[in-house]
Amino acid sequence: MEDRIVSGETQREEEWAELSLRPQRLSQYIGQQTVKENLTVFIEAAKMREESLDHVLLYGPPGLGKTTLATIISHEMGVNIRTTSGPAIERPGDLAAILTALEPGDVLFIDEIHRLNRAVEEVLYPAMEDFCLDIVIGKGPSARSVRLDLPPFTLVGATTRAGMLSAPLRDRFGVVSRLEFYTHDELTEIVTRTADVMNASIDKKASKEIARRSRGTPRIANRLLRRVRDFAQVRSDGSINDKITNEALELLQVDKEGLDHIDHKLLLGMIEKFKGGPVGLDTIAATIGEESHTIEDVYEPYLLQIGFLQRTPRGRMVTYKVYDHFNLEVPDV
Ligand code: ADE
Repeated sequence: MEDRIVSGETQREEEWAELSLRPQRLSQYIGQQTVKENLTVFIEAAKMREESLDHVLLYGPPGLGKTTLATIISHEMGVNIRTTSGPAIERPGDLAAILTALEPGDVLFIDEIHRLNRAVEEVLYPAMEDFCLDIVIGKGPSARSVRLDLPPFTLVGATTRAGMLSAPLRDRFGVVSRLEFYTHDELTEIVTRTADVMNASIDKKASKEIARRSRGTPRIANRLLRRVRDFAQVRSDGSINDKITNEALELLQVDKEGLDHIDHKLLLGMIEKFKGGPVGLDTIAATIGEESHTIEDVYEPYLLQIGFLQRTPRGRMVTYKVYDHFNLEVPDV
C-alpha cells in the first residue's frame, strides 16, 4: 500500500512504531477468536508431527493484524520469518533468491500477495506444492529445465482482497482465514495493553473512548493512543483521561464514530453531488480526489460495516444513518 500520510505519520513510520508494541505470542493476541483457535490447533499439530505448518492466507481490511499474526506464527513455530511483498518481487529470479535462502520450516510472509505478477506466481506454485523450483537454463533449442529442491517452508500470504487472488494460488493455501473488525471491548483491551507496554497511564473511560473511535481497527487505536498521549504529555500531566482524550480527538478531526475528514468528504460529497447515490466508485473517487482502490480497501469496508454505505448493482448509496450522523434531514424518496 502507498505511503499514506495519517495524522502526521507516514504509514512506514507508523509500522515502525507499531512493531515494538505488537504481541509476540497467540496468548497475548486480543480478538479474532476463531482465527486464533484454529491457528492454535494447526500450529500444535504441525509441531507434534515435526512438520512445517501448512500455507496460510490471511485476508481482510488493512490494520487488523495480518502482519502481527504472521510474526506470531513464526514465534510459535520457533522459526525465522522472512518478509516481503507482492510488488517487491518483480521477476521469477527475485523469488528464487528468496526461496533458496530459506531455512527448513521458515515462514515466508508475502504482504499484498494479490499484486504478484503472473510469471512470479508460476514459480510459486511448485514451490508451495512440492517445495521445489523449476528453473530453465539456456535459451532456444538448447534450453533445459532443472528441478531444484527447497527446504519445507510456510508461506503466509496477506491481502486486503481475497477476490483478486487467482484461483490456482488461492487453492494452494491449506488455511484461509478472514480477519474481522474488532469489537469496542476488544479494542478497549488492546488500548489498555498498548498503554501498559508504553508505560503510559490511562483510565478506563479514555481507553473506551479511543476504542470507540478507532473504526474496529487496532492500528488506528494504537495510532490515536500515541497522539492522545502526546497531548496529555504537553498539555497536561501526562496521564490520559477522557477529558484530554476528547480534546485531542477533536483536534485530530476524528469524530464520535471515528470518521475523519476523508470519510466526511466522501459521504457529504455523495449527498451534495449525487443526492446520496447510487453512484459508481470511480465517480466518487474522481469527485473527492482519492484513488478508487484506496476508497475500496481503506475507507469503504468500515462504512459498510457500520451501515453508513450500501453497495447496490447501480453503485454506492449512503443510508439514513449518514443523514442522522450529520444532523441532516432525510430526503423523501
Ligand atoms: N496490538 C495490535 N493488535 C493487537 C491485538 N490483536 N492484540 C493485542 N495487541 C495488539
